[in-house]
Amino acid sequence: MDERKRCFEQRYQTGNMPWDIGRPDFNLRQVLATYDIPRGPALEIGCGTGDNAIFLAKSGFDVTATEIVEMALEAARKKAKAEGINGRFILQDILETDIEGSPFVFVFDRGCFHSFDMPEKRKRFAQSVARHLVHRGYWLSLLGNADENRQGPGPPQRTACEIVEAVEPFFEIIVLKSGHFDSNLKPPPRNWIMLGRRR
Ligand SMILES: C[S@@+](CC[C@H](N)C(=O)[O-])C[C@H]1O[C@@H](n2cnc3c(N)ncnc32)[C@H](O)[C@@H]1O
Repeated sequence: MDERKRCFEQRYQTGNMPWDIGRPDFNLRQVLATYDIPRGPALEIGCGTGDNAIFLAKSGFDVTATEIVEMALEAARKKAKAEGINGRFILQDILETDIEGSPFVFVFDRGCFHSFDMPEKRKRFAQSVARHLVHRGYWLSLLGNADENRQGPGPPQRTACEIVEAVEPFFEIIVLKSGHFDSNLKPPPRNWIMLGRRR
């Protein structure tokens, strides 16, 4: 089993998931309210326990959500069922196999793209996202921001350059904005809001 997967599994098993805030991130809500993103099939990569996927479904998308941690996916399925949401929640790694249901009109990830430490992996991730999108389809990614000064633990931190290097070959970058994650932590971790449009 790969180290990243083991690490995420352990986080869920021990309840060490500060990202799991029990509500959709306001950044997703704001982007959907601001940009004219057409409704249709949408993919969330690394959906965790499902709050954003459920929000996407409620916002009119036909949602497919993926995870590599079964425990997170089970929680997401349970929440979706309780809310009467009909999304597909599947255990799959976009870097290993293509996701059924593509091409999507919108891809969302919060904290998945940023979790790859190697530049080549981030580029492969961006390329895989592009491959799963319709021409001119949108990708919204919320990532940790390397401009944050902090002492303790927190999300992986990426620079604007690192993001552009991975994303720009495959996407026109519409937004690359510094902000903060929706969080129960005070202060909330800084983030990047990256909205790209497939070339
Ligand atoms: C920081 S967590 C965020 C979870 C969720 N997006 C949220 O905001 O609550 C990142 C998630 O991505 C998942 N993940 C990591 N690599 C993945 C991959 N290649 N495919 C699908 N999910 C992945 C992890 O298991 C973890 O649940």
